[in-house]
Amino acid sequence: MKIISNPLELKASLSSQKSVGFVPTMGALHEGHLALIKKAKEENDIVVVSIFVNPTQFLAGEDLDKYPRKDDADKKICSLAGVDILFFPSVEDIYGDDEVQVYAPNVRGYVLEGATRPGHFSGVLRVVMKLLNIVTPTKAYFGKKDAQQLHLIMLMVKQYFMNVEIVPVDTVRDSDGLAQSSRNVYLSKKEREEALKIPAALYAASKLVSKGVLNVDAIQNKMLEILSPLEVGYVAILDRDFNVVKSVEIGNTVILVEALAGKTRLLDNLWL
Ligand code: PAF
Repeated sequence: MKIISNPLELKASLSSQKSVGFVPTMGALHEGHLALIKKAKEENDIVVVSIFVNPTQFLAGEDLDKYPRKDDADKKICSLAGVDILFFPSVEDIYGDDEVQVYAPNVRGYVLEGATRPGHFSGVLRVVMKLLNIVTPTKAYFGKKDAQQLHLIMLMVKQYFMNVEIVPVDTVRDSDGLAQSSRNVYLSKKEREEALKIPAALYAASKLVSKGVLNVDAIQNKMLEILSPLEVGYVAILDRDFNVVKSVEIGNTVILVEALAGKTRLLDNLWL
């Protein structure tokens, strides 16, 4: 496995003859990332993974300094997973002064996650635009767990006529049902037990839908009942274009939850 930190060196090392699968990450790799890498390997000649804790997607006072960094373990994981190139840039390799800006859309980028973290998605789109331009992959792989991020990236690729296929990959769960996330390491044993209310609420929603209950208010109320007493950021039931709906439509609905376990904000969702 080659480790490259310079964007221009990375560009030069990729031959245009081969298909390139790209998995952008912020490190602290877990099974969820491995699922992305595995799919990228199955579908491409070469796999590039980036590890870059992107400062522009953290707001002032967020956990940028405390964000889990496991560089040595991550390098080993990538090498064992058969990654061809690990892109490992510094902040200076990626950002310059007085840059041309990329902004999240005013509505879709400022609801749900964007409502409590205004500007977060501008930082995500800005770095993803850069990473996609550096790697110029055939396909790029993103987890469905970050459903709003995935939606906005797909929108950017479409609206800016970018030449890459975005591949959504299913969420990987621990055996207790909790969605894998780099931030799970912050959870105490008790907080983790409380956090299991999140997959439980999503499971209850899927049971209701399978019994024919499609009304959004009824599903939301049941979910809020199960999530109590967790501090809930939102329970949203949307169509796959992220529009509010009154009724679940199978094949075109996503149910999103954000809740706090202790001080840790956890996201999860269900694609119906
Ligand atoms: O999902 C993440 O890990 C990050 O938001 C991403 C897409 C790598 C951009 O920094």
